Amino acid sequence: MKKHISNFYETIYRANAGKKHPVLTGKHLATELGYPGRALESIPAELWDDFLPCGNPLPYLDPARGDLLLNLGCGAGVDSLALMLDKSTGFRAVNLDIVFHVLSKTSKTAQAPTPASMPDRVCADAEALPFVRECFKWVILNGVLNLFSDKSRLISEISRVVASGGMVAGADLCRTAPLPAYFMDEPDAWAWCMSGALTEEELTASFASAGFERSAFEPQKLDEFFDRAVFVFEKK
Ligand SMILES: C[S@@+](CC[C@H](N)C(=O)[O-])C[C@H]1O[C@@H](n2cnc3c(N)ncnc32)[C@H](O)[C@@H]1O
Repeated sequence: MKKHISNFYETIYRANAGKKHPVLTGKHLATELGYPGRALESIPAELWDDFLPCGNPLPYLDPARGDLLLNLGCGAGVDSLALMLDKSTGFRAVNLDIVFHVLSKTSKTAQAPTPASMPDRVCADAEALPFVRECFKWVILNGVLNLFSDKSRLISEISRVVASGGMVAGADLCRTAPLPAYFMDEPDAWAWCMSGALTEEELTASFASAGFERSAFEPQKLDEFFDRAVFVFEKK
């Protein structure tokens, strides 16, 4: 499944800009999700075309000068840039994705407020993060958690690299009803964050078992099976 998902996103990122997806994406979705006006005005169209979020966790992210932030499964890295444009606090961001192409493509178009604040880019698998213990104060996880069938492996790896008191702020689909069985065998439904969706209770329990306490959960009704949910967990 991991190979299918990385190939799936590589194909999307290699497609021509403006490609139509079966779900709402890009600047249109960012506007609906309340992304800040400054980001909507300043971030180039090429980056919005590759923006595939599940929600808007930005209101819960407040990095201070010197903080290190990891945008895990960053895609085009829009959340890191939007945050830099919104808060001029001098934090450092690391954009990580398993698809090299999107990191290399967006490095040509992404404009941080200053060249020195450009996020570092790392191509790696989220289940084997190439970082030392407890180095990040903030982690963004936007449309990424549901891609993993083994959530405990991913979350314990995140827990390893987050400092005590650090925050994971993310968004994903949350399941509000049992899914028909065919979802489990449909690779593209995994890649679109549907088949791997947890209920609110399962999500909270998964993070709790890796030492996190929930500090926010904001669901928004999507359809008969799913909410779009923004979630925030603090590492104790
Ligand atoms: C739904 S997209 C979200 C992208 C980005 N967070 C955004 O909001 O636009 C999921 C992203 O996770 C990345 N991804 C999938 N599996 C991954 C893995 N095992 N490790 C790191 N990134 C992964 C994909 O390449 C893709 O960029």
